[in-house]
Amino acid sequence: MVEKYVVVTAIIIVTTLLIIYSSSSGNSSLGYKSGFIYHVVNRAPLNLKKWVTKDGYLPVVGNKTMSLHCRQCALVTSSSHLLGSELGSQIDQTECTIRMNDAPTTGYEADVGSKTTLRVIAHSSVYRVIRKPQEFLNKSQGTVCIFWGPPQKMQKNSRGGLYRLIHQVGLAFSKLSAFVIAPKRMQQFDDLFQRETGRDRKKSHSWLSTGWFTMVIAIELCDNVQVYGMAPPHHCREAQPKRMPYHYYEPKGPDECRTFIGNERAKKGNHHRFITEKDVFAEWAQLYNISFLQPSW
Ligand SMILES: *[C@@H]1O[C@H](CO)[C@@H](O)[C@H](O)[C@H]1NC(C)=O
Ligand SMILES: *[C@@H]1O[C@H](CO)[C@@H](O)[C@H](O)[C@H]1NC(C)=O
Ligand SMILES: *[C@@H]1O[C@H](CO)[C@@H](O)[C@H](O)[C@H]1NC(C)=O
Repeated sequence: MVEKYVVVTAIIIVTTLLIIYSSSSGNSSLGYKSGFIYHVVNRAPLNLKKWVTKDGYLPVVGNKTMSLHCRQCALVTSSSHLLGSELGSQIDQTECTIRMNDAPTTGYEADVGSKTTLRVIAHSSVYRVIRKPQEFLNKSQGTVCIFWGPPQKMQKNSRGGLYRLIHQVGLAFSKLSAFVIAPKRMQQFDDLFQRETGRDRKKSHSWLSTGWFTMVIAIELCDNVQVYGMAPPHHCREAQPKRMPYHYYEPKGPDECRTFIGNERAKKGNHHRFITEKDVFAEWAQLYNISFLQPSW
């Protein structure tokens, strides 16, 4: 009888310990907001403004350094939330305007403005940008272009010709200040993703989006960032989000929420984690003076 009692007590103790252990080790997430893949993990705040390294952006031509700094920036997304907004003049009145990839202004001035201070361009968008040089490369005086891509493609002696093409752009359009993101800075962007989401970017088959690069660069360069056209992270989790194009300039292109959700959930191949990225942006908003307009949140 006594032996049986001891065994039962021992089992209860072991089970209790196991429960305590597993709940504490599985409890590291702070901001679990979704049924999606990632949570925002517990971490000490990082000052992104001081996190910048020297020589993070390498000039494509000559030896200029990236010295852009603005008190106020408008980060204009490529989303069709901007269509019909009539925010163009407000955007143009902002000290600096930031755009991404091959998002045009011609024909959309009333909604997205016409000025481009900085354009952040993905390696995969270089060809689309070069196809319309008068729109993207030869429009305004002194636009800064920052090109990002896998470090093995983005260095002077890289094979494959992408760097050479960017270099030719830099030579042909002397009004432009063209930079590529340095390899060590690319690593920092990966480290930041891991720090903020708890996931290793490569092992979790994720690609950072141009939006991620652009947001971090905007925080670095601007005292205040107003983001135009970025819906809040929960937008696409609602039951029936309105169908709308992913890009304002591709009315027949893919649907925004389908693109976001498809990428977020995809496990095969490499994908952007747009919604996870937005969860992180929402956390950064208070830390770094970021506000969201159209829609506002
Ligand atoms: C940049 O290049 C110019 C001319 O090519 C040279 O005179 C100058 O010393 C260089 N500056 C730096 C910081 O390397
Ligand atoms: C850039 O635009 C100007 C007119 O604004 C034109 O004269 C020049 O040829 C263009 N440059 C290139 C390389 O297309
Ligand atoms: C936030 O933005 C406002 C308005 O542009 C600016 O005056 C203020 O200095 C910024 N705060 C920080 C902490 O950068």
